[in-house]
Amino acid sequence: MKKNNEVPYKIYLEESELPKQWYNIRADMKNKPAPLLNPATLKPMTQEELSVVFCEELVKQEIDDQTAFFDIPEEIIAFYKMYRPAPLVRAYFLEEKLKTPAKIYYKFEGNNTSGSHKLNSAIAQAYYAKKQGLKGVTTETGAGQWGTALSMACSYFDLDCQVYMVKVSYEQKPFRREVMRTYGAQVTPSPSEFTEVGRKILAEHPGTGGSLGCAISEAVEVALGKDGYRYVLGSVLNQVLLHQSVIGLEAKAAMDKYGISPDVIIGCAGGGSNLGGLMAPFIREKLKGEKDYQFIAIEPSSCPSITRGVYAYDFCDTGKVCPLSKMYTLGSGFMPSPNHAGGLRYHGMNSVLSQLFEDKLIEARSVGQTEVFEAAELFARVEGTLPAPESAHAIKGAIDEALKCKETGEEKTILFGLTGTGYFDMKAYEKFHNGEMSDYVPTDEELQASFDGIIGYNNPKL
Ligand SMILES: Cc1ncc(COP(=O)(O)O)c(C=O)c1O
Repeated sequence: MKKNNEVPYKIYLEESELPKQWYNIRADMKNKPAPLLNPATLKPMTQEELSVVFCEELVKQEIDDQTAFFDIPEEIIAFYKMYRPAPLVRAYFLEEKLKTPAKIYYKFEGNNTSGSHKLNSAIAQAYYAKKQGLKGVTTETGAGQWGTALSMACSYFDLDCQVYMVKVSYEQKPFRREVMRTYGAQVTPSPSEFTEVGRKILAEHPGTGGSLGCAISEAVEVALGKDGYRYVLGSVLNQVLLHQSVIGLEAKAAMDKYGISPDVIIGCAGGGSNLGGLMAPFIREKLKGEKDYQFIAIEPSSCPSITRGVYAYDFCDTGKVCPLSKMYTLGSGFMPSPNHAGGLRYHGMNSVLSQLFEDKLIEARSVGQTEVFEAAELFARVEGTLPAPESAHAIKGAIDEALKCKETGEEKTILFGLTGTGYFDMKAYEKFHNGEMSDYVPTDEELQASFDGIIGYNNPKL
């Protein structure tokens, strides 16, 4: 083991050190997350019911809360080698700029063409779809990272890929759309006139910029109506957290090499997949009572599902075509105000993270748009990498923690997830530079009106 003071700027693992298994947090949770429910019967969704919508192997992963480790298939490991292991970076320049005694590390997941961590699960989901003999998959995308990742993964396995992209992002990010088309995907702005659910949402909310919840409903409807197609999802589901555990497993392996142990682990939270993945091996130790860590989810104050939402059964999508999930939610009908971190515009949260938060094993904070972009810009200037706005939420969280250390003199070790790069987010950066950024925070009344529409809210049967 090397000594702490020899920590290089970047720690790269060898290819041979790539994790061979994904870790399933649920296996070690005393209070398991509640199962997905069939909205018609209010009974847990069976494997058969889920398999109509999702790929069979992914359904098995989705409902398995006992198996701690899943072997990563050789074909997926081979693909991972194109861009993994991802570096763990010691943010020496950021530490210096902040004049903090804290030691800051970030796990950088933006080193692939899709520009984010989403590829880790996209390749797994495309692999299982191909193995099942499917023709193609449908999906939603918010900021566009997931759609890009899935289009790359589908082209690798020669699968058709149909992406419903949240309309605001579709309009703000034409280049991201073209990257997806370069990889062969068909991209449709959501809500669209092509689906029943899209037409309904447009009638109820004319001129809406869309949301992840709407796009999910449309993609599910299309998959259900097409032979040889299934729906795949880039976050929120437990299978996605499972695949993303590769982030944390690598981060921990890199830290262990240098005898480093984080005190605080921070991630931005949209549907919860990158944070769930980053914290996976660390929360395992916490759940087993072997070690303690502080985990912090950072979300936008415009879409504050954990910090201001309710813990209740709710639809995963706006169109109410998906199963019910028990989660922290703002209500599946919640329409976030225009928010430049499109990937964080989701009304709910993964059920594992929701249960961990309910059990006070993780914390959550919300941050405003302008302060997030201030953090993003500071980070870009000192560390060089231009962060995605979603990732910048985690940067903001890490900076806040590091500044607290400056006040107290504590030499805490902070680990955060730098989930992606922001080259396609320059419209948002432009608004920030022009002082036109919206910092809208929903009122209690607005949230209450949305909670009242949640099926499981104050419902003793659920
Ligand atoms: C770069 C980036 N980071 C983070 C997220 C948030 O998703 P999750 O909470 O599932 O990691 C997204 C979602 O689109 C994203 O694009």
